[in-house]
Amino acid sequence: MTTPNISRRGDLIQESPIRKLAPMALDAVKRGISIHHLNIGQPDIPTPIEFWDAVKCNMNTVLAYGPSIGIPALRESICVYYSRSGISIEPDHVMITTGGSEAVIFSMMATCDPGDEIICFEPFYANYNGFATLSDVKLVPITSSAENGFHLPPSEEITSRITDRTKAILICNPNNPTGTILTDAEIAELADIVSRFNIYLLADEVYRDFAFDGREHSSILEYPEIAERAVVMDSISKRFSSCGARLGNIVTRNKSLMTAFVKFGQARLCPPTLSQYGATEMYRSMTDEYFSSIVSKYQNRRDILMEELHGIDGIFFLKPEGAFYATIKIPVENTDHFAAWMLTDFSVDGWTTMVAPAEGFYATPGLGLDEIRIAYVLEENRMRSALEILKAGLQEYRASR
Ligand SMILES: Cc1ncc(COP(=O)(O)O)c(C=O)c1O
Repeated sequence: MTTPNISRRGDLIQESPIRKLAPMALDAVKRGISIHHLNIGQPDIPTPIEFWDAVKCNMNTVLAYGPSIGIPALRESICVYYSRSGISIEPDHVMITTGGSEAVIFSMMATCDPGDEIICFEPFYANYNGFATLSDVKLVPITSSAENGFHLPPSEEITSRITDRTKAILICNPNNPTGTILTDAEIAELADIVSRFNIYLLADEVYRDFAFDGREHSSILEYPEIAERAVVMDSISKRFSSCGARLGNIVTRNKSLMTAFVKFGQARLCPPTLSQYGATEMYRSMTDEYFSSIVSKYQNRRDILMEELHGIDGIFFLKPEGAFYATIKIPVENTDHFAAWMLTDFSVDGWTTMVAPAEGFYATPGLGLDEIRIAYVLEENRMRSALEILKAGLQEYRASR
């Protein structure tokens, strides 16, 4: 019996480069191989105890729906969190979402009609490609170059890509997958462009706490001149090592946008209730020490990564300024093939290393083929072993070509 074709978007949506090798990883595990996961931004830091205590304290007879916009206590505690970095927002400016992922999807859908364009800087978080397909938005990529540290290109290059279909500029700051943090001057420049061209500025600030070497992260919420144009997308996944809680949030001072977000939210009913209780307590109990200890842990891992990479021939990389990723050029023709080969054909003493091929972090076809993204989310000894194995794998792979 024949069946109708599936939709064009169902057919075209990009597989996540972070997850598409998972079946091969599963096969490797079945063959008895253990894997160092440098492919995914899954922190190994324990989720704060306050999360679990809150979940236990809220054991009830009914796990009920909550408000579509999120529970008031969590929205209030998020305002307190932003106030620590001098940002003044009200609970009415905050909507809780099912992960930062939903925050990005809602932001694309509330600012764009089908076929409208969003300018973004590649390489970017790979799932933006998938989110754009889901919301029928066209991403217009501007390639950022490693030579200037993946910082913004000149203003004229950005404005030359604005058309009458452009509705927004999307940034990820600190950046996944490059680790670059935009300077105040760069944000001010973007604020100027979006004001002049009457478009929105969408900022994915999921990694806003992770700034290294004493850097300060600036948020687009700190620019009063774009108060009505700024939308921040955020998440507790990395902040509190709570990826499985599936909670994020949107912040905007634009009432019309917030009305649209809430209507989208009503269609999906509500974000996870139990996770919201846990998240509220994590926000309430967090201290400056919590954040500084986490940041120094990741900075130390970044330093180990830099040290280990220096010993590998023929690769090119930059020192990340924040987040916990690095984009690295390696001397192979196709990192998709190399990353798969590491899982199917290579191991050292029963271990291999999994990395994310970078092609999917670009929208321009053919870019990133010789790059990988590494997530430095493992503790020191595991990071070192993972990178030793990667180095040995790279040597053997090249010798066998
Ligand atoms: C830049 C960026 N934005 C959004 C997300 C999605 O986060 P969440 O787990 O909250 O959906 C991620 C996850 O890795 C990310 O790296």
